[in-house]
Amino acid sequence: MTDKYSTLNFEEPPDFPPNNVYPPSWTFDNDKAWQLYRRAKKEQWDEDNINWQEVKEWASGLDRKQRLAIAYWWSLLSTFDNATPVFAYAVVKSFEQHLPTPVKGILTTITYDENRHNVVCGFGINSVLPGFPNEFKPQDDLERKALLNVLWTWWNGSRYWKAYLDAYQKYSFDVLFTSFMMGEAAATTVFSTMSKGAKVKAFQEVFKNTTVDETRHYAFTHLIMSQNAERMDDERKKLVTKQVRAGFVFLSLITYLPPKDFWKLPPWFNEVHLKMEDLARDAGFYIPTLKEKEEAWKTAVVRVGASLKHYGIKMPSIPELGIEGEEDLPDIDEGDIIPVF
Ligand SMILES: [Fe+2]
Ligand SMILES: [Fe+2]
Repeated sequence: MTDKYSTLNFEEPPDFPPNNVYPPSWTFDNDKAWQLYRRAKKEQWDEDNINWQEVKEWASGLDRKQRLAIAYWWSLLSTFDNATPVFAYAVVKSFEQHLPTPVKGILTTITYDENRHNVVCGFGINSVLPGFPNEFKPQDDLERKALLNVLWTWWNGSRYWKAYLDAYQKYSFDVLFTSFMMGEAAATTVFSTMSKGAKVKAFQEVFKNTTVDETRHYAFTHLIMSQNAERMDDERKKLVTKQVRAGFVFLSLITYLPPKDFWKLPPWFNEVHLKMEDLARDAGFYIPTLKEKEEAWKTAVVRVGASLKHYGIKMPSIPELGIEGEEDLPDIDEGDIIPVF
């Protein structure tokens, strides 16, 4: 049996296979990326320092439906904040592609941020209705439908995950991350509104800190775009336009109303969803109104649109918000969805 390594010539430097995390490499230019990486390290916060006891005490004074509605909201949010593996995978890819050292560093910090956001969703649920949704026993039709809303939303998440993994075969890193712009921009506005509206101090703090993270994530997507757009050909620019629309479609479930593209949800979804939001509001858990959500998205669209325009990338139409862009896109399906926040 011949040893497949028998021909190695140790007198010469080795040949490294392509798309491999070896050899280690470091770059020290790209000041803007280094600045953002340093900022990410400074802005870290600890979810254990949030006063969850305050939330538990407040929730003990609420009725069952109100507690369900708040647990429901956190569960839906976790669809998007289940993003630790999304960024962990991006870290692997960034090392395989030998991206600049500070870019790899930023992605590592976003992985950690997203894990914190995910743990926060868990703490949020556990402080109001422990065991939701997996051990929850519905007592009436509304409760049963609310539970199914959550589980089917998560099932759509599993479709998204599959598409995300495949996306690395189809898209380059710059297109992929520019796609996240819209989501990060909308998340920033929605969370800052929630922080200002929250009655419970613990929630004010959680949403304020999350806004800080999402603002930084937005800055990262902007950095990737501004440093790559000049090299993007028309085809890539078109993909970005499509992904901005996909960002709206995917995130609208929590930040607006789910458009019919992509989402496969029970027929009662919107009715029960709006009822749950109202119950949570009545309990004193601040959720932006539909009007405020529309404003948040419009602000995000203006912000992202202005950046894209600067680099010759067209803005898609968002008919749901009455926004006429430079490009009308057909329905978005699961093969198109790659954004997160
Ligand atoms: Fe997040
Ligand atoms: Fe984010």
